[in-house]
Amino acid sequence: MVFNKYHQEDISSLAFLVTGGAGFIGSNLVEYLAQHQAGKIIVLDNLSTGYIENIAEFIENGQVEFIEGDIRDYNTCVSAMQGVDFVLHQAALGSVPRSISDPIATNDVNISGFLNVLQAAKESGVKRMVYAASSSTYGDSPSLPKKEEVIGNPLSPYAVTKYVNELYADVFSRTYNFHSVGLRYFNVFGPKQNINGPYAAVIPLFITQILKGESPVINGDGLTSRDFTFVSNVVQANVKALLSQNLNKHEVFNIACNEQTTLTQLVSTIASEVNSPVQASYVPERKGDVKHSLADISKAKSWLDYQPETLFRDGLKETISYFKAVV
Ligand SMILES: NC(=O)c1ccc[n+]([C@@H]2O[C@H](COP(=O)([O-])OP(=O)(O)OC[C@H]3O[C@@H](n4cnc5c(N)ncnc54)[C@H](O)[C@@H]3O)[C@@H](O)[C@H]2O)c1
Repeated sequence: MVFNKYHQEDISSLAFLVTGGAGFIGSNLVEYLAQHQAGKIIVLDNLSTGYIENIAEFIENGQVEFIEGDIRDYNTCVSAMQGVDFVLHQAALGSVPRSISDPIATNDVNISGFLNVLQAAKESGVKRMVYAASSSTYGDSPSLPKKEEVIGNPLSPYAVTKYVNELYADVFSRTYNFHSVGLRYFNVFGPKQNINGPYAAVIPLFITQILKGESPVINGDGLTSRDFTFVSNVVQANVKALLSQNLNKHEVFNIACNEQTTLTQLVSTIASEVNSPVQASYVPERKGDVKHSLADISKAKSWLDYQPETLFRDGLKETISYFKAVV
């Protein structure tokens, strides 16, 4: 993907570490940094859910130094951090259902691994770490749209881990003066998202099923809604959060588009984009899923100058073209 430029600063002398940089969001961040001639780009990833192919061209042309390693190992985090100015922390085990079937693995990576990355960044003199937080932190809070300061009880082990990340980052800012920003992503989609395995996200799953003429299965009555966010908006938010001059030591922002789309609308939009007669079938709701999710993004707009550029429909078209070429 060709990214617009979201920063004014000269980044050619700065070093960036992207954890989870072989994954969906991480590899899009790597692509942005490579397109805009970042001084040094290091990726730390254990390839558990990510793919080396996502960043192979940047490893081959020498723009990316790839470390195959695990954030659950503290020494690995420390050695990846040498000479690094900024950390974009994306490595985690995503998926609410995965966390329900294996809460211990999710906890190990998302909490212990997160703490390793945070501590290593602090000890290595990193200037700021921007980390992937999650809209799942809103849990059972009924209020819509979601505002950063009003959260409910977590509905899954995954949501617990993402909230704990925010608590640790906040404590590190007050205890050690360490600077970080949490970005609560809302259902991100776009090129390079994983379509394999039982925990694939709904947009790549539905696109590939509809392209094959298969009927997508919706959990629930189809009125479940999400604030689907095209990945270039998430890249923009990360870059702005990393380099912004006017932030406190720790802040959390919603990153989304402030657009609400139901799952039934999602299926019919994909089907009409690809001229398919396919219709969804419906099964009971899944545990841990929230019914509605819609972000208030005014804080990111005013503090980070964040402006979602590619809204749901255009992002979906771009994503469909991408999957048409790879499926
Ligand atoms: N995709 C979304 O809609 C969404 C929404 C909210 C939050 N997030 C968060 O954004 C981040 C990136 O998500 P994504 O969608 O790109 O997922 P992804 O699975 O594509 O990327 C995660 C990457 O982390 C790597 N990883 C996992 N465990 C690791 C470990 N122990 N050590 C080193 N690397 C490890 C994986 O191999 C993968 O490359 C995650 O923290 C996720 O929780 C994603």
